[in-house]
Amino acid sequence: MHIESLAPGEVFVFGSNAQGAHGAGAARTAYEKFGAVWGQGSGLQGQSYGIDTMSGFEVLRREVAEFVSVARQHPELTFLLTPVGCGIAGYAAADVAPLFTDAPGNVELPAQFRAVIEIPDAGENDDPAGGAPSEARAKPSAAGKPGSAVRGRHDRGAAGDRQQYWDGRYGDSPRLWSGRVNAALADVAADLVPGTALDLGCGEGGDALWLAEHGWRVTGVDVSTVALERADAEARRRGLDIAWQSADLESWQPRDDYDLVSACFLQAPEDFNRSAVLHRMSRCVRPGGHLLIVSHAAMPPWSQHHDHADMPTIESELAAVGAPTEWTIVIAEKRQRAATGPDGQHGLLDDNVVLLLRR
Ligand SMILES: C[S@@+](CC[C@H](N)C(=O)[O-])C[C@H]1O[C@@H](n2cnc3c(N)ncnc32)[C@H](O)[C@@H]1O
Repeated sequence: MHIESLAPGEVFVFGSNAQGAHGAGAARTAYEKFGAVWGQGSGLQGQSYGIDTMSGFEVLRREVAEFVSVARQHPELTFLLTPVGCGIAGYAAADVAPLFTDAPGNVELPAQFRAVIEIPDAGENDDPAGGAPSEARAKPSAAGKPGSAVRGRHDRGAAGDRQQYWDGRYGDSPRLWSGRVNAALADVAADLVPGTALDLGCGEGGDALWLAEHGWRVTGVDVSTVALERADAEARRRGLDIAWQSADLESWQPRDDYDLVSACFLQAPEDFNRSAVLHRMSRCVRPGGHLLIVSHAAMPPWSQHHDHADMPTIESELAAVGAPTEWTIVIAEKRQRAATGPDGQHGLLDDNVVLLLRR
């Protein structure tokens, strides 16, 4: 549903954030056309209504319940719901649509949501359009977020904890990383023909922004929405078009294959099955494309986080990808680089750099 104008009595319902920064997507449309108020995160504003989709699934659930109650109190209004939560917030329609099951008749649902909640059971529908609901029900959450129809309690908790941990780390400072491209990525990509790229654990977007500026069509994925909002703001400032995906890589599955899949410092102190993620994501490199893995081979001398599980080695990175006959090893080496720590300390860091070409 692409809404350009509203009749009197119609209200445009859009996905928002707690800060009321209506900078992109439907929120921007609401701000530019339908009276959304900059700084107001949720509720009725002008001829629009904001639902905070960026503060975790529990908040989203509460926001939707509040919206449904407001819609009931205003039968004179018609609420045109956009697929809230399914843009940068990264949820699947299968996650969000069920929250609107009790919405009154003056709420017009988007087609994606109707496909999930208005057809009784996937597989019972002979209509050719019936593929949509069964797909929506069966596929894992695009976000790997709580509420997925197919993931269990333990997964939901782990995904939520990861996001909380990383949002907290990013939230502790206005900027966590340098904002510059990783040297190994710039070095490697300089020799490649630009195509499509997937940046795993893109953080504040240093690599994704650099790739986009060098002609790549980039998707950046991260579990932290705080990091992604920073990356998105910087992309907009530079006029770059990058697809950001808020997702937990332990469950997220890309729909496409890529010319370059990059995992630079995709390392985490918390419980994270990195090898399994690398293995699965390596399958998203198209034949003739490249997989780049760059990792800390040792903790930086100034790091207070000495609790990373076993540090990766060149051998363990290659083992994670597996299937040696499918790959040509282009680079597999340790590199040292000079770096400056958070308090200005100078030191040498050891990185693993692995570049594989998919045959
Ligand atoms: C050490 S930072 C590296 C950021 C960036 N690649 C760089 O080189 O500056 C690791 C990043 O991975 C993300 N991350 C950690 N676990 C993740 C997961 N399970 N799914 C998606 N992203 C994750 C974190 O939010 C963080 O942004």
